[in-house]
Amino acid sequence: MCGIVGYLGKRQALPVIIKGLKRLEYRGYDSAGVALLNGGLEIVKKKGKVADLESEIGNRKLEASLGIGHTRWATHGEPNDRNAHPHTSSDGKLAIIHNGIIENYSSIKKELESNGHVFKSDTDSEVLIHLIEEIKKQNNCTIEEAVRLALNEVVGAYAIVVLSKDNERSMIAARKGSPLVIGIGEDEYFVASDATPIIEYTNNVTYLNDQEMAIIKDGSLVVKNLENVTKTPFIQKLELDLEDIEKGGYPHFMLKEIFEQPKSIRDAMRGRLVSREHHLFLSGIDQYLNRFLNADRLILVGCGTSWHAGLIGEYLFEDIARIPTEVEYASEFRYRNPIVTERDVVIAVSQSGETADTLAAIELAKSKGALIFGVCNVVGSSIARASHAGAYLHAGPEIGVASTKAFTSQVTILTMMALYLGLKKGTISLSDYQTLLLELDSIPDKVAKILTKDEEIRNISENFYRASNFLYLGRGFNFPVALEGALKLKEISYIHAEGYPAAEMKHGPIALIDEDMPVVFIATKDSSYEKVISNIQEVKARKGKVIAIVTDGDTEIQSMADFTFQIPKTADALVPLLAVIPLQLLSYHIAILRGCNVDQPRNLAKSVTVE
Ligand code: M6R
Repeated sequence: MCGIVGYLGKRQALPVIIKGLKRLEYRGYDSAGVALLNGGLEIVKKKGKVADLESEIGNRKLEASLGIGHTRWATHGEPNDRNAHPHTSSDGKLAIIHNGIIENYSSIKKELESNGHVFKSDTDSEVLIHLIEEIKKQNNCTIEEAVRLALNEVVGAYAIVVLSKDNERSMIAARKGSPLVIGIGEDEYFVASDATPIIEYTNNVTYLNDQEMAIIKDGSLVVKNLENVTKTPFIQKLELDLEDIEKGGYPHFMLKEIFEQPKSIRDAMRGRLVSREHHLFLSGIDQYLNRFLNADRLILVGCGTSWHAGLIGEYLFEDIARIPTEVEYASEFRYRNPIVTERDVVIAVSQSGETADTLAAIELAKSKGALIFGVCNVVGSSIARASHAGAYLHAGPEIGVASTKAFTSQVTILTMMALYLGLKKGTISLSDYQTLLLELDSIPDKVAKILTKDEEIRNISENFYRASNFLYLGRGFNFPVALEGALKLKEISYIHAEGYPAAEMKHGPIALIDEDMPVVFIATKDSSYEKVISNIQEVKARKGKVIAIVTDGDTEIQSMADFTFQIPKTADALVPLLAVIPLQLLSYHIAILRGCNVDQPRNLAKSVTVE
């Protein structure tokens, strides 16, 4: 949440920063702002998107080779010009951009006010720059020392970059709980919330660790921790191509990412599933095989779509590997005093690897001795680094706020894990294992086949885009798919949607059904097919409109549903990987028909780094 960019080097800073902010806009788009340092501090900030900031800048000549920029997802203080970052100190000499939450800002603010500080915004971030100013004045110290001392006083999460008018060639960055990456070019440095603003200029980067500061000054980079101990930065090469973060001819990132799924699912399996040899290679599990095989429980933690993938994981691990498994909302798990022991394995599922609740959940489980296994997409992310072992999704950057390809990659990884553990535990026969591996290997082609029928989904969408409510129903492996379909629809089209286990409909939601209620059934030919047919009949009897996702060749449901969409046949355990695709497309087309901004839905941010 919130995107931050800093630049110090030989180029004009403003275009680098504006371009970077556009790449980070998926993190928040309530307001945007820049500060450029060239003799004086020039600050421009504006409510709205980066494009609004650009209009505000207009033809002003903001020439500088040092600057910072911010795109905001509001926490403290409503989205307006005043609360937009950068924020400045009382004397106007210091400027800060901040991603995170300063939890003890209120008490610090009171104290600073009693010392004469006057605040211009309602944000917690402004308090931090006043605190730095106050500490600098009282200790008569350098700006970097004042930042270090101030950070020792604050509670909460932050990624910050600070500029000082008196230090024309210097920029100070620091992080705790919110990501920060530093790009190292030739005579130039970049700071950003993720690598996307940097990749165009250099692929040499270093990721700051929690409670570390980077002092970029006089052409050099010094990293130290908050105890003032100097650290050697670990410089690594980015494995990211510019085209990965561009739309590549698609009108929206979300659509591009939906259509990338044959490749992203294949990439999740690459080097892990060798179907010719009927074998899986999961080095992350091998490292801790005994812990997995002797685990009392697997506990999957995640949020949103990643939690839905975790729910499918629960069904898979129990069904195939016969290991007792629970799936937990990370935000509940971390605060409900859960029982966790060293005989538990906690699997953290997260696209970004930065979700604050998921990170806190694994820190809690780790402190109780559990083994932590990360299933993340973003390489080097906080959750990946806090895990003992893990498996990366390798899905490539997911920029649309609605998660699509990360979900199918998460489910692919969890499926491989369940199969691998099932084989090692002897809970799945070799022939069933091999059959499922072959079937899993065919999933990318089947997804590609579904995507060729995008037009069919678009036509269905035209009949329903004015609806105010939707119900999504499925049983077994298709229940999490129903939840995911409903989440996709509500987050990008703002239509209220609920996902339910199909049989639960009778226990309440059936009261909602009338001729205005579209009900999406995931009704593939599996062990609960007949029962789902009965549920469809119950909806039709009450005049509900039925859209059914069915298996290729199904004529029975076609005769009772208003609309059907066929997907290729596959094993029950693998159906979610196929059934979710038409639901992603349905939400996309409905949102487009309603004129919504699918890549940047209101109020949302891609990476939820605050709790
Ligand atoms: O990065 P994470 O996978 O940890 O993010 C978790 C959720 O915030 C995320 O899945 C969210 O629900 C998406 N907007 C869903 O499309």
